[in-house]
Amino acid sequence: GENSFFWENILAWYSENGRHHLPWRNTKDPYRILLAEILLQQTHVRKVQEVYEQMLLEYTDVRELAMANIETVKEIIAPIGLIYRAERLIKTAEIVCSKHRGYVPNNYNELIKLPGVGDYIANAVLCYAFDQPVVPIDTNVIRLFTRYFGYKSMNRRPRMDKVLASKIRAHFEEMDSTRAANLAVLDFAGAVCTASKPHSMECPISENCLDLFSRKHDSH
Ligand code: ADE
Repeated sequence: GENSFFWENILAWYSENGRHHLPWRNTKDPYRILLAEILLQQTHVRKVQEVYEQMLLEYTDVRELAMANIETVKEIIAPIGLIYRAERLIKTAEIVCSKHRGYVPNNYNELIKLPGVGDYIANAVLCYAFDQPVVPIDTNVIRLFTRYFGYKSMNRRPRMDKVLASKIRAHFEEMDSTRAANLAVLDFAGAVCTASKPHSMECPISENCLDLFSRKHDSH
């Protein structure tokens, strides 16, 4: 059916073109994954890599981050902006140490209580660190699914749309690896199904896309 055409092509594209080398994709350490997700928030992936490596050199584990000097953390993350994240990172590390014996929680209700951890990051940590079959939904994910499957959000802020979120989640239910499916969607939406000008000529699923603008067409 439509869902298997979609996934077969997205996963094939991903195994060829995915950003498999990204350092936070080659670890299962929940501390590293939580750190990466906080640094990636509203920030371009390419710029995050160096800051992520710097942070790990300075703070190998969550106990070291909990004892960090805030000015040092601010200096390290300054190149990627949003330096208010320095305080949240330290506070989150403190809570993980004091309340969870140094273990990043593996459940949504505790994750969401950490400063700087919202719905997206909580689900990202559950999926990428703990292999839970959950779907972190951001604007990239929403764009790909609304275009291809023709979903419309009735909500002024589609990211807050619970009905749309459950429609998107349903597409992941039959997947063997939710983790691979999530990463594939993330990379595909960022590289092919882009916001302003979808790259329809390189799109392996454009023939069935319900967004007619995203279909392959002659521009003359
Ligand atoms: N890999 C894992 N999580 C990611 C994210 N939020 N953005 C980009 N790449 C990622």
